Amino acid sequence: MILPVIMAGGSGSRLWPLSRTLYPKQFLSLTSPSTMLQETVARLDGISHQAPFFICNEEHRFIVAEQLRQEQLAHSGIVLEPVGRNTAPAIALAALHATSNGDDPLLLVLAADHVIQNQQAFVDAVNSAIPLAEADKLVTFGIVPNAPETGYGYIRQGSAISETAYHVDTFVEKPDLVTAQEYIATGEYYWNSGMFLFKASRFLDELDTHCPDILFACQQAMSGAHGDLDFIRLDEAAFSACPDESVDYAVMEHTQDAVVVPMDADWSDVGSWSALWGVNPKDVHGNATRGDVLMENTTNSYIYSQNKLVATVGVDDLVVVETKDAVLVAHKDKVQDVKGIVEQLKQAG
Ligand code: GDD
Ligand code: MG
Repeated sequence: MILPVIMAGGSGSRLWPLSRTLYPKQFLSLTSPSTMLQETVARLDGISHQAPFFICNEEHRFIVAEQLRQEQLAHSGIVLEPVGRNTAPAIALAALHATSNGDDPLLLVLAADHVIQNQQAFVDAVNSAIPLAEADKLVTFGIVPNAPETGYGYIRQGSAISETAYHVDTFVEKPDLVTAQEYIATGEYYWNSGMFLFKASRFLDELDTHCPDILFACQQAMSGAHGDLDFIRLDEAAFSACPDESVDYAVMEHTQDAVVVPMDADWSDVGSWSALWGVNPKDVHGNATRGDVLMENTTNSYIYSQNKLVATVGVDDLVVVETKDAVLVAHKDKVQDVKGIVEQLKQAG
């Protein structure tokens, strides 16, 4: 039986000003009436699974609980992190919880902030990966890359295991641009989708081998945890002492047992405003809009209005996002730099 593990503790800063520390991207509805978190649960339909397990920041507990309640979605636990320590500890907490009563389910680790337009392809890829995970492999789901993006992990395809799976030759998290360009040129690499399937016990073994500090801190944090109705609250001091590391650096770059199952599911991690433009329906001029928007001679743009009428004239390749307390105007090719604004805001306190 599969236990979906939904990681919902990120900050989604590249979608500022819509995505905020208090209300990050995974809790927004960006491409459908449901939120990204709700969509993540909905797309499990077609996979035989237990109620999902959630890991989020303590600050967001009411948002998560409310969003599950809204769509009557069951859960098998919601762990609250007092501080974010990235994805390796988050998955470790889920694996420790899942094995605490002697079970050893397959963990289907999912980011809560991805868009997948071809749900059937997602379901088929996950189902085809089950025998591999049962045979003690750590399965990654690979996306055929279309640009030298530096925000992704890169997986070099090794020898074939079957028609739908390959050994992972190398896994490199977030390479620099030149390296990413070289990888793309070879045609031998996938992007890491950030979704994984493995036995809970296998993950804990890998962590023990490659990052025992993380495993130790998470064990301490779980053994000092206390639960109430929906939430599992960690021992704050123990979890705060945990190293901050993503699963990609902590385990996937080092394990000898990774395999990749290619997934052609119209996947996007909506990591920027231009990516969000990409996954939204567009008019004949290539514009995607939301809210009260008027346009003249406007092409290939993303215009979002929350409160006011937003009007654009004679612009191309622009992103305009109006919210209650901030307006973003950016060139569509430069939207990665929105992070710089978020940094400035943080420094300004
Ligand atoms: N609970 C919890 N705690 N969740 C977290 C934390 C944390 O401290 N940090 C991040 N997450 C959640 C995010 O909300 C997201 O759903 C998921 O974990 C992945 O984290 P990101 O911060 O978005 O990772 P990334 O996009 O930089 O990189 C990962 O995803 C790429 C694909 O989108 C990596 O796995 C890359 O290799 C991959 O290509
Ligand atoms: Mg991401």
